[in-house]
Amino acid sequence: MRRVTKTFPGVLANDDVSIEFRKGEIHALLGENGAGKSTLMNILTGVYRQDSGEILVHGKSVTFASAADAIVAGIGMVHQHFKLVKAFTVAQNLHLGWERTPRRISHDQMNRSALELSGKFGLDMKPDACVGELSAGAQQRVEIVRVLARGSQVLIVDEPTAVLTPYEVDNLFRVLRRLKESGRTVIFISHKLEEVLNISDRVTVLRRGKVVATRDSNAMDARKLANLMVGRDVIFDRMPRYDAPAEDKYEVLRLDDVNAAHASGAKALSDVNLSVASYEILGIAGVAGNGQRVLTEVIAGVHGVTSGTISLGGRDITGLTAGAVAESGVGHIPEDRLKSGFAGDLPVSTNSVLRVYRQEPISAGIWYRHDQAVEFAEKIVKEADVSTPDVHTPLRNLSGGNQQRLIARRECAISDRLLIAAYPMRGLDVGAVERLRKMIMGRRDAGAAVILVSEELDELLEMSDRIAVLSQGRIVGVLDIADASLERIGMMMGGRKLEAGL
Ligand SMILES: Nc1ncnc2c1ncn2[C@@H]1O[C@H](COP(=O)(O)OP(=O)(O)OP(=O)(O)O)[C@@H](O)[C@H]1O
Ligand SMILES: [Mg+2]
Repeated sequence: MRRVTKTFPGVLANDDVSIEFRKGEIHALLGENGAGKSTLMNILTGVYRQDSGEILVHGKSVTFASAADAIVAGIGMVHQHFKLVKAFTVAQNLHLGWERTPRRISHDQMNRSALELSGKFGLDMKPDACVGELSAGAQQRVEIVRVLARGSQVLIVDEPTAVLTPYEVDNLFRVLRRLKESGRTVIFISHKLEEVLNISDRVTVLRRGKVVATRDSNAMDARKLANLMVGRDVIFDRMPRYDAPAEDKYEVLRLDDVNAAHASGAKALSDVNLSVASYEILGIAGVAGNGQRVLTEVIAGVHGVTSGTISLGGRDITGLTAGAVAESGVGHIPEDRLKSGFAGDLPVSTNSVLRVYRQEPISAGIWYRHDQAVEFAEKIVKEADVSTPDVHTPLRNLSGGNQQRLIARRECAISDRLLIAAYPMRGLDVGAVERLRKMIMGRRDAGAAVILVSEELDELLEMSDRIAVLSQGRIVGVLDIADASLERIGMMMGGRKLEAGL
């Protein structure tokens, strides 16, 4: 890419960017939220058109009028939010909209062809499985095969690891290394510095739309990378913890024998008993897919229970709507911000007030006070350091990390009693992670109870006061932070009950 510039109304997203991606390399793109990574890759794949500058493939200038043109030129992208059709099978998704798919093709033929492709690229897939029922890692493999089948020599993966379990990340890295060895080019976007150091050959850092540097990854470490990204040292200082007097602590949330099922009828939670107190962060550890999502959703009122009771401050809230739970002082940062929590077409202002528009000062009698809503939104945007031209911009125009910053701040703001945070750091850059950690611990120190779900055990160990381990929908144990260690939690995640002497 040579001297590429792209503006949106009020935003210079890419500013005179020149980067060379080589054959047979894994090239990482790094930068703060809103630095312009996704925009640049959308230009490279023909989704957006640059204002100026050019794309050269093997030294020849090319123009892409659409994503299809980029695919013909051998450039394909796996988006962070998969574009698969959930109701279709794996084989159907692979063949959908592919010019090599015959007009008439039987299911058997499709399944066979899918198996062949999966063998050819060495990626495991079940052709007749319905995509909607697959884990994130399995869906991602389908996306990758879909792109490779169309002849891609350049594979772009935008924050591919954000939704994967550590085991799935290992698998993905094996795949990416194989692609590189076969002479392809991989462009890898991630906020996790250790991953970038581990997987990439070279790394380019963007800041405010500009290239800061391209370096050999071998010559870098996490501190140097963070420094290039933000232009100064990132200091990970720890906040002193507020030690609340015992008489101020009370039980905020209690779950008694809670059972819940997935939409398919399969069991999601089995006899869950939990208690969280004020001034306490309860970490939830466990391999993703072991009930974390449903656990947070039943508490937030988004998902129903089949039996058991949930109480908040002694009051039974089982079966209340999500809105009613929120109005009782419960904030919820959901696992999937696009599915619940946001309305992408609506402006930032409306999204900022979704939780409070029925309260003063935004509501005055029967009136919705637009000016008050705007003022409230501007405050949230400022506090969460959301980068947007103004609060009237549709939410979907914000970069992924900036959307996450907004929802996290909005939910923290209403969590007077309880904050439920499911993977709240997803998509955030290193600086934003640090700020959100402080914000969450700040809620705790102000007396709220916090439930924090994360796949990063280090993070759980750093932030939590107690850690509960979920395995197959059951709580296999609750550890006091003083007794918790990586090894111990790891063993329990495997489903071992907490036993004396473990
Ligand atoms: N379709 C659009 N309309 C208007 N502005 C946009 C659009 N897409 C991106 N932007 C703006 O361009 C800038 C760069 O966004 P981009 O999504 O490329 O960032 P990013 O580096 O991928 O960030 P993140 O780490 O949060 O994913 C942001 O300020 C964003 O608000
Ligand atoms: Mg992005």
